[in-house]
Amino acid sequence: MSVGTETPQQRDRARTIFEQGAAGRRAFVCPEIDVPTVDAETLLPARHRRAAPARLPEVSEPELVRHYVRLSKRNFDLDSGFYPLGSCTMKHNPRLHERVAALPGHARLHPLQDLPRAQGALELMWNLQQALAEIAGLPHVSLQPSAGSHGELAGVLLTRAFHEDRGETRSKVLTPDTAHGTNPATVTMAGLQVVALATNPDGGIDLDDLRAKADGDVACLMLTNPNTLGIFDPNIAEIAEIVHGVGATLYYDGANLNAIMGLSRPGDMGFDIVHFNLHKSFTQPHGGGGPGSGPIAVSERIAPYLPVPVVVRDADGRFALDHDRLKSIGRLRGFHGNYGCFVRAYAYIRSLGAEGLRDASETAVLNANYLLARLRELGVADRLPLAYGDLCMHEFVLSGGPMKRELQIRTLDLAKRLLDFGFHPPTVYFPLLVEEALMVEPTETETRETLDAFAEAIAEILREAAEDPEIARTAPHTTPVRRLDEVGAAKRPVIRQSL
Ligand SMILES: Cc1ncc(COP(=O)(O)O)c(C=O)c1O
Repeated sequence: MSVGTETPQQRDRARTIFEQGAAGRRAFVCPEIDVPTVDAETLLPARHRRAAPARLPEVSEPELVRHYVRLSKRNFDLDSGFYPLGSCTMKHNPRLHERVAALPGHARLHPLQDLPRAQGALELMWNLQQALAEIAGLPHVSLQPSAGSHGELAGVLLTRAFHEDRGETRSKVLTPDTAHGTNPATVTMAGLQVVALATNPDGGIDLDDLRAKADGDVACLMLTNPNTLGIFDPNIAEIAEIVHGVGATLYYDGANLNAIMGLSRPGDMGFDIVHFNLHKSFTQPHGGGGPGSGPIAVSERIAPYLPVPVVVRDADGRFALDHDRLKSIGRLRGFHGNYGCFVRAYAYIRSLGAEGLRDASETAVLNANYLLARLRELGVADRLPLAYGDLCMHEFVLSGGPMKRELQIRTLDLAKRLLDFGFHPPTVYFPLLVEEALMVEPTETETRETLDAFAEAIAEILREAAEDPEIARTAPHTTPVRRLDEVGAAKRPVIRQSL
């Protein structure tokens, strides 16, 4: 082959699956059906059918396999590299969980299976509820919500039902200015009004601002603790007292639970409602890799309003679904939740045990502080100082402000250049109150060598930028696609190929 000739792989890389294959080519041919069938008209009347069959790719099995393998290699994933995406807890997903979730008894269970034949699944859900109640320090759990944000919606609706049951209509929800965007979005979706709370110089809630805004019209305070700055608010007992003092509830956004599992419990801090992100703290492939799950745990006074159905166990040890709850806010979704996530989370909790969960959190906090110390040791802190505090919990937020002024590269440039060093970028430009924010969450499943290599890559990018900022500004250079038009992708997405 002469130099410069396009290889078959390069040619295929440039073609979509629709441009490959040939008419009549198949990956797999089913045997003729040899049992009586229903005719097409009965299955789907002609008025609902297309005049011509849909144009689908016609490819051989190797073409099909290569297509998907090629696509999978064009992405960056947790199994190929360090993924310190702050606030997302991208920890390793043990393969044992995948095997357990794939067992036919779990994977093939139909959501409408009659309950006497689904006792094992109900028992798993019930056991998971008990474990989550223990971890949260709150007695009642609903597994229904499908994501953290869905858990938030459940929590705000529960709060509204709680106040309405007392004959009160409260319209405001307090959210700190460090809150994840889903918190205010949820409040607005639930028809309530967002009131932002200021952050004090230590990165916690400004208590004076809280006292000034806490009144009889406040339904709830939504709080993440540790918050999105990676800081545990030491004033939590006083915050709970102020909030409860005006008759409002305290909601715990559990996205950062990975810092405190088995060490402190939101229920003991005074929270009434907690959501878990099973896909983060309890390991699941997530972030485009799989579905999420956002169970909630609540105190006695909130329990009457929980979504239906609730998994219950009777005196004989039989499991059932309780739909008969007069004050319930109703159903939040079809069926009973993302069952595969329950299996994986339960496998994780059972395989680690109480001590193992505590150890995971302690190691997550240690890893984050080790990385922070290593960055300081490498002289990175002048250009990328820690935004708040001195130590951190399981993640930390650096400010790229000095880097931007002194080296003329932005946090986005640094993030993109990290891809060339084989690392997924940390979260950027969040939380909003930090200039040029870079939010790093290493998790407990990374080795010291990986953390060292990441710190050295950041130091190297800053050194390189001091000589030639253009390298970072035009990064990434080694990925299948270069710098993307992210604003264009968000505002004018082309999500459908025209055929
Ligand atoms: C602090 C915080 N709260 C809430 C959420 C929402 O969780 P989910 O993405 O599961 O809806 C996230 C997600 O990243 C988060 O980081």
